[in-house]
Amino acid sequence: MEDFPSRFDVVAISTNERVDLLLRQASQFKPEGVCVCSPTARDTGAEIASAVGAQFHEGEAGLTEMVARYDADIVVVATVGFVGLMPTLKAIERGITVALANKEVLVTAGDLVMAAARERGVKLLPIDSEHNALFQCLNGCGEQSVRRLILTASGGPFRGRQPETLAAVTPDEALAHPTWNMGRKISIDSATMMNKGFEMIEAAHLFGVPPERIEVVIHPQSTIHSMVEYVDGSILAQLGRTDMYLPIQNVLMWPDRVENGFEPLDFAQLGQLTFEKPDPEGFPCLAYAYEAAARGGTCPAVLNGANEVAVARFLAGEIGFLGIARSIRNALDAHTLVSDPTLEQIHEADKEGRDAAQAVAAGTLG
Ligand SMILES: NC(=O)c1ccc[n+]([C@@H]2O[C@H](COP(=O)([O-])OP(=O)(O)OC[C@H]3O[C@@H](n4cnc5c(N)ncnc54)[C@H](OP(=O)(O)O)[C@@H]3O)[C@@H](O)[C@H]2O)c1
Repeated sequence: MEDFPSRFDVVAISTNERVDLLLRQASQFKPEGVCVCSPTARDTGAEIASAVGAQFHEGEAGLTEMVARYDADIVVVATVGFVGLMPTLKAIERGITVALANKEVLVTAGDLVMAAARERGVKLLPIDSEHNALFQCLNGCGEQSVRRLILTASGGPFRGRQPETLAAVTPDEALAHPTWNMGRKISIDSATMMNKGFEMIEAAHLFGVPPERIEVVIHPQSTIHSMVEYVDGSILAQLGRTDMYLPIQNVLMWPDRVENGFEPLDFAQLGQLTFEKPDPEGFPCLAYAYEAAARGGTCPAVLNGANEVAVARFLAGEIGFLGIARSIRNALDAHTLVSDPTLEQIHEADKEGRDAAQAVAAGTLG
């Protein structure tokens, strides 16, 4: 937005609790509406809104209210977690293009969201770097031309570690992602490789390619952001710097390509691009995601709900790193599948996953 002021007009913005950043952005972009979700930050949010002459919205409902109220060409859904679902559905209902970073939206309710988008003829443009790479490589090609989608994964901070050493890892160690600078929740998801499982489910929905034709390969340099193998054996890869600026620009400017001052990639300096198989023993969450996708229906919402709570509990020091996978395993085992769920049943499944993860005893596995 800052770099291309003539192309964008920001009509509404939100934060959970970073009101300092909200103040800076609201003062700069003068939006019509601002939303603050966290109850502890709402009073300050209301003051900021009044100071910049914007309408104030609050709580998770406030996000959907803003999408319903203001006219926009594009809604960027970059909240973290299940909270992104309702604003996304509202944008689709209003026929507004959605730029989607929040992967939990398609993980939990992919069938409903994609059906609504198809019905309203709304575009979902992927910001997630892997999906943005696939989007660029596919360039409108349909699923019938595709043999495999290949998602690259850095392997996270614990790549190559012996599974038994993972019980003792701390949140700080797990947050230290080797190649991408990201929020706390996705950084932990990357450390467990649940992030790649979510991306597989997200890709299946976005591109209509079933999970059994989506593979994950570890690529520690993160230079190739993902690949499409076509039925004739030709493989297209999208490469670039590990900077979210690039997929965000691609989506916000799409279909235009606009110069941005980035230095060209120096291949000689990169030296080599390497690939490995993921380790299923050390990182069971990836297999849990494939399992949830295969069972379908409400299972991915349970998977996600359990993961959200387990990650928050790990970050709070309540359970160990391996307790995250254990919480998800318990939640999936306890769940009775509902195929073809309604929105209400997805909300119930999300709650069931959360409750199951909350029920895991503090101190579990580390
Ligand atoms: N970061 C990346 O490089 C990256 C790449 C690809 C995909 N994604 C996906 O994009 C989404 C956002 O990731 P992120 O790393 O950008 O996360 P983040 O920095 O932790 O949070 C993104 C935004 O969501 C807000 N938020 C957090 N919890 C919320 C809640 N309960 N209600 C309303 N708003 C809430 C945050 O508020 P505050 O302003 O208070 O922090 C922040 O504005 C995730 O689904 C992630 O998987 C991220």
